[in-house]
Amino acid sequence: MLFKTLLSSAALLASLSTTVSADLPAIEIVGNKFFYSNNGSQFYMKGIAYQQDTANTTSLFVDPLADPVGCKRDIPYMEELQTNVIRVYALNATEDHTECMQLLQDAGIYVIADLSQPDLSINRDSPAWNVELLERYTSVVDQFHNYTNILGFFAGNEVTNNVSNTDASAFVKAAVRDTKAYIKAQGYRDIPVGYSANDDIDIRVDLADYFACGNETERADFFGINMYEWCGESTFKTSGYANITAQYANLGIPVFFSEYGCNLVQPRIFQEVPTLYGPDMTDVWSGGIVYMYFEETNNYGLVTIEADGSVSTLADFNNLKSQLASVSPSIAEASDVSSVTPTTCPTIGPDWVASTNLPPTPDESVCACMVDSLSCVVASNVNQDDYEDLFNYVCSQIDCSGISANATSGEYGVFSPCKPSDQLSFILNLYYLENNKAAYACSFSGSATIQSATTASSCTAVLSAAGASGLGSVSVTFSSKSGSGSASGSGSSASASSTSSGSSKSSDSPKQYAVSAITKAMLIGATVFFGMGLIFV
Ligand SMILES: *[C@@H]1O[C@H](CO)[C@@H](O)[C@H](O)[C@H]1NC(C)=O
Ligand SMILES: *[C@@H]1O[C@H](CO)[C@@H](O)[C@H](O)[C@H]1NC(C)=O
Ligand SMILES: *[C@@H]1O[C@H](CO)[C@@H](O)[C@H](O)[C@H]1NC(C)=O
Ligand SMILES: *[C@@H]1O[C@H](CO)[C@@H](O)[C@H](O)[C@H]1NC(C)=O
Ligand SMILES: *[C@@H]1O[C@H](CO)[C@@H](O)[C@H](O)[C@H]1NC(C)=O
Ligand SMILES: *[C@@H]1O[C@H](CO)[C@@H](O)[C@H](O)[C@H]1NC(C)=O
Ligand SMILES: *[C@@H]1O[C@H](CO)[C@@H](O)[C@H](O)[C@H]1NC(C)=O
Ligand SMILES: *[C@@H]1O[C@H](CO)[C@@H](O)[C@H](O)[C@H]1NC(C)=O
Repeated sequence: MLFKTLLSSAALLASLSTTVSADLPAIEIVGNKFFYSNNGSQFYMKGIAYQQDTANTTSLFVDPLADPVGCKRDIPYMEELQTNVIRVYALNATEDHTECMQLLQDAGIYVIADLSQPDLSINRDSPAWNVELLERYTSVVDQFHNYTNILGFFAGNEVTNNVSNTDASAFVKAAVRDTKAYIKAQGYRDIPVGYSANDDIDIRVDLADYFACGNETERADFFGINMYEWCGESTFKTSGYANITAQYANLGIPVFFSEYGCNLVQPRIFQEVPTLYGPDMTDVWSGGIVYMYFEETNNYGLVTIEADGSVSTLADFNNLKSQLASVSPSIAEASDVSSVTPTTCPTIGPDWVASTNLPPTPDESVCACMVDSLSCVVASNVNQDDYEDLFNYVCSQIDCSGISANATSGEYGVFSPCKPSDQLSFILNLYYLENNKAAYACSFSGSATIQSATTASSCTAVLSAAGASGLGSVSVTFSSKSGSGSASGSGSSASASSTSSGSSKSSDSPKQYAVSAITKAMLIGATVFFGMGLIFV
């Protein structure tokens, strides 16, 4: 209701003052370029990163689009720089963004937004794509999809950052896939979803190929790279821009600098701007986003916000302004773009270990049904901080493959996308069964507790569709399917749709595993899991 009130008063004000500006035309992708949807003329990003640093805080952050005072203060400076897109890194989906989004519309500025937030993002050291993250991502999509000036979403920023953590990209690509599927399933506008990478010379080709490859369901719609190679005075060749332009020439999707502006030489002269928007680069690149609006301790700012709330422009601001004013990139027409064949996926090797077989789509209904079917679960008063000890101990005793994920082999436990408490319950139950339901085996000094297992008939179908149906047959605890593309796992009550939309399940081929000693636990698991309705595939 508040939303509506603000919207109409903003519209009223606009009509009273000057002309009512229409909403901006959506930006669409054809081949490797962005286009205005109203006239099919090419769109280059002339962007600025717009968010105060969140590095010092773990969970709280300032959402720049929920601060109309800040938006009113800053947008005129963006306009002075001919800004047509801002990048924001963390949004608070429970706050009201109407006013800032309208001010940006009026100024001709699009928004490209990261979907994660500091304490809800894919962690490169222990990567996961789970129900909590899917819920976070879709909450941002729900809140912003209706603004025509949302240009796109980033499913991750610099998650994989060197050869040691390339496996994490499988989870990010699953996030791309599921966010795209969610947008489609909700009937929202076809908002593109992509990734923003760091510039690591060893992996940047494989990384871009990985996100750009595969079919429409799985691949990223665009690829951004955070680029700091051109410092002070340089040239297309000596800066390194020529090399990466050649490397990214045939990705088949739009590429752009999702951050740029090396500050090793200060003030920044932004001499790279005419090259970025010039003939050496415009066939391949769609412009870039300067890092960043606010001056902070890292010295990347274009303006300083003074103690009295006023804005002072820095030398960098004026230099960037004159550079951007000088460019006039060639404008392609959407109708002239010939279809582009997607790039080939990288193969597993010394520098790249992420399988093209992606983690499963998180589905809360699968996790909830699993928990209902257990006889032993984690006690509700156990602190999350104490989970690790329990995981470590139990997994040293039994097979935990039902909850584990290996993005190199491409093998993912059916319950690997469940939240930690559900996963812990799953393995505590296995341990209990393994020990013939001895009372001591569901105790752990009060950390585990007995419950009466239930399996609603609707759950049998949900679990079966997820590939958990033959828990006892070993082969199905793992699911090597690369996601059904079903977007029903949005969180709350997706059980019915999740079964019906998972129609392609029959083509999934669960990985077969040799029967080993640990299968005993899984076999025992099956009988309890489904009670009377046991299904083997
Ligand atoms: C296409 O539309 C956009 C947005 O209204 C406008 O900025 C651009 O100048 C138009 N291009 C042409 C060639 O008319
Ligand atoms: C962030 O931390 C740095 C280094 O400790 C400090 O200099 C800076 O003032 C902090 N910024 C904020 C906004 O707290
Ligand atoms: C999001 O906004 C709400 C309401 O203003 C606030 O309570 C919450 O702490 C914010 N969350 C974050 C992560 O900043
Ligand atoms: C979305 O936008 C349309 C067209 O501007 C509007 O009619 C509709 O009410 C909006 N819906 C929401 C949920 O804001
Ligand atoms: C990779 O990045 C991580 C996290 O930033 C860092 O700890 C590690 O040392 C890096 N490893 C290599 C091989 O560069
Ligand atoms: C896309 O590729 C994946 C993995 O190979 C496959 O499971 C899925 O069915 C494909 N989707 C379409 C629409 O072809
Ligand atoms: C460009 O690539 C070539 C070949 O790998 C390399 O020798 C050269 O140093 C690179 N140039 C820059 C500026 O990175
Ligand atoms: C994951 O799979 C790869 C390839 O099969 C294997 O080498 C690696 O040991 C596995 N990792 C774990 C933790 O099991």
